[in-house]
Amino acid sequence: SSTSSLSLVSSPSSPALHFIGKKEDIVRAGRVTKLVNGCRDVLVLYHQGQLYAMDRRCYHSGGELQNGDIEEFNGRLCIVCPWHKYKITLAEGEGLYQAVENPTVKPIRTYWCSKGVKQRVHKVTEVGGNIFVTLNDSSKPIESDVYQVEKYRTMPESK
Ligand code: FES
Repeated sequence: SSTSSLSLVSSPSSPALHFIGKKEDIVRAGRVTKLVNGCRDVLVLYHQGQLYAMDRRCYHSGGELQNGDIEEFNGRLCIVCPWHKYKITLAEGEGLYQAVENPTVKPIRTYWCSKGVKQRVHKVTEVGGNIFVTLNDSSKPIESDVYQVEKYRTMPESK
């Protein structure tokens, strides 16, 4: 039953799962933003049958990723930041960009590159139709961390 699954969740040895919402509601909405554990401003996305979670504010300049389009680049699903169109992979939080193969050769040909992980992504777990996020507590700094301060957290009163 869901009760027995949930008792595992509170086991002190396992990382904390934070309730986000009912899966059916998140699937319907497509995107949900939530201040998790009173400290982390997180965006949970549902796209093509998968759930993803990442810091809500874009690593570049704090853009609001919940308003970005989801597109595929080089076979990888990305959120495109609405502010300056940076592309961030949904699964890993990698920043993707197009590099020029050889600037002296015309026409210019480009290829996709990764800047590495720039956006902190979090783990999503489903337990009995409820969706939980486990915060990624890797001690290695990730660029999106700088927007996880109170002044960027203020949410608009209405959507
Ligand atoms: Fe996201 Fe600039 S703030 S691309």
